[in-house]
Amino acid sequence: MSDNNQARDTFSSKFGVIAAAAGSAVGLGNIWKFPYITGVHGGAAFLFVYLGFILAIGIPIMLSELIIGRSSKRNAFGAFKVLAPGTPWRYIGILGVGAAFLILSFYGVVAGWSIQYISLSIQNGFTNKSPEQITSLFSTLIESPIKPVALQLVFMFATGAIVIVGVKKGIEKYTKILMPMLVVILIGLCIKSVSLDGAKAGLDFLFKPDFSKLNGDAILSALGHAFFTLSLGMGTLITYGSYINKENNLVRTVISVTVADTVIAILAGIAIFPAVFAFGIAPTEGPGLIFVTLPNVFHQMPGGFAFSILFFVLLTIAALTSSISILEVVVAYFKEEFNMGRKSSTVLATILISMLGILCSLSMGILSPYTLFGLSFFDLMDWISANLMLPVGGLFIAVFTGWFYGRKKVQAEVANGGNLSGAMLSLFMFLVKFIAPIAIAIVLLNKIGLLKFS
Ligand code: TRP
Repeated sequence: MSDNNQARDTFSSKFGVIAAAAGSAVGLGNIWKFPYITGVHGGAAFLFVYLGFILAIGIPIMLSELIIGRSSKRNAFGAFKVLAPGTPWRYIGILGVGAAFLILSFYGVVAGWSIQYISLSIQNGFTNKSPEQITSLFSTLIESPIKPVALQLVFMFATGAIVIVGVKKGIEKYTKILMPMLVVILIGLCIKSVSLDGAKAGLDFLFKPDFSKLNGDAILSALGHAFFTLSLGMGTLITYGSYINKENNLVRTVISVTVADTVIAILAGIAIFPAVFAFGIAPTEGPGLIFVTLPNVFHQMPGGFAFSILFFVLLTIAALTSSISILEVVVAYFKEEFNMGRKSSTVLATILISMLGILCSLSMGILSPYTLFGLSFFDLMDWISANLMLPVGGLFIAVFTGWFYGRKKVQAEVANGGNLSGAMLSLFMFLVKFIAPIAIAIVLLNKIGLLKFS
């Protein structure tokens, strides 16, 4: 065993573990991405498919990642080297490190938009503006070649700085105080949004499913988003699991994180869709959806000025506790596999990812004529990582846990500090051995047209 082991961080308390994992899961995925892709894919039917994937695939894979991480005490790549020496399983880890690059490149750009909206809120930039003006404000802003790039770099710098100090400091406080604040703000927004004239159409859109609207693309996006929102499929939770000590109850951690993440996404949906319909915005607006919808709500709310500042501050912090968990995958890998220091690994990873991020940001404006498969660089990074790399990573993680690691070791690892009754263990094994891999394979094959059912 290497000396790295002694230098490894561990989370200090039970709450610290849940805090870090929930901090990773809850982020732009819940508040920015979930509403916008739900809008693009037609609403309620998409929501229900996504919830089904969370239950049947997300939960078992989250537990699998934590088990793999905690029992190996290694990064996403090293974990498989320890648990399955001399086998190709470790390439799952490489896929994950690659996905981290892609995800963080566009994630930082959106977080940069959020920072810009803090400053717009402070300058009272939304008052007396029509919904059309608010929409064009957003597009002018993201198309600019300078400000969004600079803010993306600010955000990446902050992410790197926190990762250098070590992941656990500061996260507990965020989760204990700021995350409940985010929930309160969201609930305030929901109440306002639901009471707008014409709100009902938005609630129907979100909760009354019309399954005939679903196609292969929507199903694949729902699957990809289940992975994205729970931070699964690329080893974030293997890496975090490696910092969890044996007393922690993994099952409880998984359930708490999943519930928190799902509740926050649904609240975001309730805050946004009634307003989308009330203000005549297209639900298919795309990545700008929250940025063009919520300012309309804020400026009609009592206390909207303070609300909007607080909202974008909390959104930016939520993005930070997620982005550090993405960067940490790369840093732990550089550090343990190439024997680099934490500082140099972080600086290197941050610089490389920021460069990709610059391209993502510019692809909204001056680089927008350059597309691949009809997608801008930004959309391409998002699409490939969420809809391809994460599900493929998840498929292998499930197969590894179910078929290679096996029931006995799973039981032994979970029994450290936790418990899984015989029936629950059997259900878990069934899900990771059969349901998750088969469902993921079918959705992917359907997409590439090898199998056609929708
Ligand atoms: N889950 C985070 C969000 O919803 C983003 C994130 C953090 C992530 N770590 C990840 C996504 C790992 C995929 C994989 O905003």
